[in-house]
Amino acid sequence: MYDLQHLSKLYRKSGETVRALDDLDFKIAPCEFLVLHGASGSGKTTLLLILGGMLTPSCGTVRCNGVDLYASSRADRNRFRRTAAGFIFQQFHLMPYLTAYDNIRVALALRSGHAHGDIHALAERLGIADRLAHRPGELSVGEQQRVAMARTLICEPDIILADEPTGNLDAANRNIIAECLAEEHRRGRTIVLATHEERLLELGTRTLELDQGRIKESLPRP
Ligand SMILES: Nc1ncnc2c1ncn2[C@@H]1O[C@H](COP(=O)(O)OP(=O)(O)OP(=O)(O)O)[C@@H](O)[C@H]1O
Ligand SMILES: [Mg+2]
Repeated sequence: MYDLQHLSKLYRKSGETVRALDDLDFKIAPCEFLVLHGASGSGKTTLLLILGGMLTPSCGTVRCNGVDLYASSRADRNRFRRTAAGFIFQQFHLMPYLTAYDNIRVALALRSGHAHGDIHALAERLGIADRLAHRPGELSVGEQQRVAMARTLICEPDIILADEPTGNLDAANRNIIAECLAEEHRRGRTIVLATHEERLLELGTRTLELDQGRIKESLPRP
């Protein structure tokens, strides 16, 4: 699915250069569930943004299904972002003036031009069916994250990129999100999850530990 070669990302920060990713080479197979972990600042978010077509690397190539993401046109990359890859952020980025239902519906409309997904069935699965008429400000943090998750899943992306989706949540909500990601994996999606939570490591088919932008350890899981 993904083939990354000599991937580096440098940021300039107050006159200094930060090497967020340092010459990474690895592949992600279709239907793999890869869990990224490592200390704060090790490069997890940077890597997810690059995989999602949202951040241009400083050097190296990122191929997804044979297509060199950053050599393709901006329009092609936008299409990839809209259709193939779905992002779940720690900050939910919901539209505050729209209801939960409309937040999900807008995502679907933007993706396909017309709404056809079953929002109610998905909301049922995520336990937010009775919250759909509310705006984000009227929802708990856990409910907002589940709406954000629904907004991503309704578009049925082949690849799900999740950046600490349980970071702000209590145990019950964390379990709902974890179970939902596991279910998406069983349905054949490729998942890359960045997390600080030890107990989420076991969700993956492989864990990859980053340390200052380099791979410290890559372990398959049984
Ligand atoms: N836009 C930016 N400009 C400058 N430096 C950045 C930028 N984004 C990230 N960095 C730096 O790049 C490095 C990697 O950051 P990144 O956010 O990818 O780490 P992370 O592993 O996701 O950390 P965390 O676990 O805290 O979310 C850090 O040193 C960070 O300060
Ligand atoms: Mg991060």
